[in-house]
Amino acid sequence: MTAERPRIRIFDTTLRDGEQSPGCSMNQQEKLRLAHQIDRLGVDVIEAGFPIASDGDFESVKAIAAVVRRPIIAGLARACRPDIERAWEALQYAARPRIHVFLATSDIHLQYKLRMTRDQCLAQAREAVRLAKSLCDDVEFSPEDATRTDPDFLCRVLDAVIEAGATTLNIPDTVGYAIPSEFGALIGTIRDRVQGIENVTISAHCHNDLGMAVANALAAVAAGARQVECTINGIGERAGNASLEEIAMAMRVRPDQYPYETSVVSEQIFVASQMLSEITGVPVQPNKAITGRNAFAHEAGIHQDGVLKNPLTYEIMTPRSVGVPDSRLVLGKHSGRHALGIRCEQLGYQFDRRTLDEVYRRFVRLADKIKHVEDHHLLELIRDTHKPTTSATPLIEPIPSTMAAAASVSTESASISEPAKPFPVAPTTNPFGAPLPVASEGHHEQTQQEDYLWGV
Ligand code: KIV
Ligand code: ZN
Repeated sequence: MTAERPRIRIFDTTLRDGEQSPGCSMNQQEKLRLAHQIDRLGVDVIEAGFPIASDGDFESVKAIAAVVRRPIIAGLARACRPDIERAWEALQYAARPRIHVFLATSDIHLQYKLRMTRDQCLAQAREAVRLAKSLCDDVEFSPEDATRTDPDFLCRVLDAVIEAGATTLNIPDTVGYAIPSEFGALIGTIRDRVQGIENVTISAHCHNDLGMAVANALAAVAAGARQVECTINGIGERAGNASLEEIAMAMRVRPDQYPYETSVVSEQIFVASQMLSEITGVPVQPNKAITGRNAFAHEAGIHQDGVLKNPLTYEIMTPRSVGVPDSRLVLGKHSGRHALGIRCEQLGYQFDRRTLDEVYRRFVRLADKIKHVEDHHLLELIRDTHKPTTSATPLIEPIPSTMAAAASVSTESASISEPAKPFPVAPTTNPFGAPLPVASEGHHEQTQQEDYLWGV
């Protein structure tokens, strides 16, 4: 039954559009650490950065392309030779590279930002995609500000870039202006009118300025889009992008309305969300759907009573299905090392015995002062106990053999001044000690459907 559901590709742009959020910039090691977790989440495409933007961005994209081998790795480029060549330079050794070319098409952007005519825009889009295609088979094109572009002109540009070799057409609602019915209709128009559209993937890239990014992305899917661009915690330029976890869980929890498959390993969502927040220092809004600390908390007596009798009364998915620690496991001064260790793992840290002892000692002192130790207290305590030797967040994954030699040299020299500290790693088991699912090459079968809903 599930095999008949159309498969929606999840394109994660946390490391590119997400990083454009104020306060969310990341260094190379932080990006690598997060890229590995996004890989574990099972996404299809990771947009690793904008290589021409800076040397740091270039090196990050290159490093991610070298070590994250399962998903497609995309790099962004404006529609010009230097950008496209630089993107390819960073991506060329990826197992599955993609060049993502964008050019604004709305009259507002053409007139005021790019100062070019529609004809010039059309020619530049075509040339840029041709160049990208000469380097890389997989080329995505985005007509920036598509939702404020004249639909006739938009279709002409899309005709041209398909002819030039684009394999994915991404339709951005760059300024978060669209509403769902309108955005769905635009996807319908593109499907009806663009030549060769049946041979390419239509993608949606929605911003959240009116709070409608997820609704717009889902409307696009209903209208035939088969890729959605999104970010963890919905971070991104201005009000952010469509949130990955909300899209994935809308499809999981409401297959009656959204009968689609994604390969997202939902149990990895919470760790990814916490890791992003910890790396950037930007907290998750408490009432954020799926990943906010209140998303599974019940305050009102009537609700608490209902949930205790049957969680189905007030919860539409299990906390466990998105990797959220059991909210009933409260950490206080009577909690033991074991409970603390499990909670640390749920927050993305696995410590050796000695480090856990140290974290535990400090935890008990804190618990003596405050009644309940919340996750954010614990994260602060871990960060403090576990200060990295440099400002960079430690790399958590084994490094491939080519890089390993160089890495071991630098580790050795570093160990002269300070002993190596254990690196935090993503947990491999759930709160009950059972192995957590990991991303695989194939589809994420919805065999665990019964686990997404309480008792259903
Ligand atoms: O919002 C936007 O238009 C973008 C493009 C680069 C895809 O981020
Ligand atoms: Zn964007």
